[in-house]
Amino acid sequence: MKITFLGHACLLIETRRSSLIIDPFISGNPLAKEVSVNSIKADYILLTHAHQDHILDVELIAKNNNSTIVSNFEIVTHFQNKGINGHPMNHGGSWDFPFGSITYTPAIHTSSFPDGSYGGQPGGFVIKADDQCIYIAGDTALTYDMKLIPLRHRLDLAVLPIGDNFTMGIKDAIIASDFLNCSKILGYHYDTFGFIEIDHLKAINQFKEQQKELILLEISKSLTI
Ligand code: NI
Ligand code: MN
Repeated sequence: MKITFLGHACLLIETRRSSLIIDPFISGNPLAKEVSVNSIKADYILLTHAHQDHILDVELIAKNNNSTIVSNFEIVTHFQNKGINGHPMNHGGSWDFPFGSITYTPAIHTSSFPDGSYGGQPGGFVIKADDQCIYIAGDTALTYDMKLIPLRHRLDLAVLPIGDNFTMGIKDAIIASDFLNCSKILGYHYDTFGFIEIDHLKAINQFKEQQKELILLEISKSLTI
């Protein structure tokens, strides 16, 4: 699977069979000006929670691609009411899609829509496709629940927020990678706003000191696992 970083918490995941976009926030991201929302191809749109910096471009991408939204029940219902296809899930549940499986995992955060309406409980995803398994934590604090994930899933990559202030920061992300039993980490949810700016080299070295790899992709750059 090919994973492209589109800034903030937005990832494009291309599997052999389908293309998935996670938490599209592109048109409002000053760091992602070179990314064109209209050029995105996505069969599925996975949403970890309802905050603006995770859902801003959902409607345009869904309309352009006739995509299916995968998220919690409340978020999927919100978009179904606007005529968009959806597959509702809730914490702990898994489903086999044509490209592979998705499990919706718990996160410690909040999940209101931009107008303040209820966006269900926030989450993350374990995605299995093409014999690879990745965990996308979503916006979350470090949580002991992460210890449960490797009991069921052998992760090839963990995508963790590292920007601090709204989510866990570097030190907690290192502990999270212990809980997850995964030493290959893709960092996200950093630098977009003043509250979450990080020192890249320092962050990479902090992981390295614990024999872990922190990958920080430039926007539009990819890694293949
Ligand atoms: Ni959030
Ligand atoms: Mn966020």
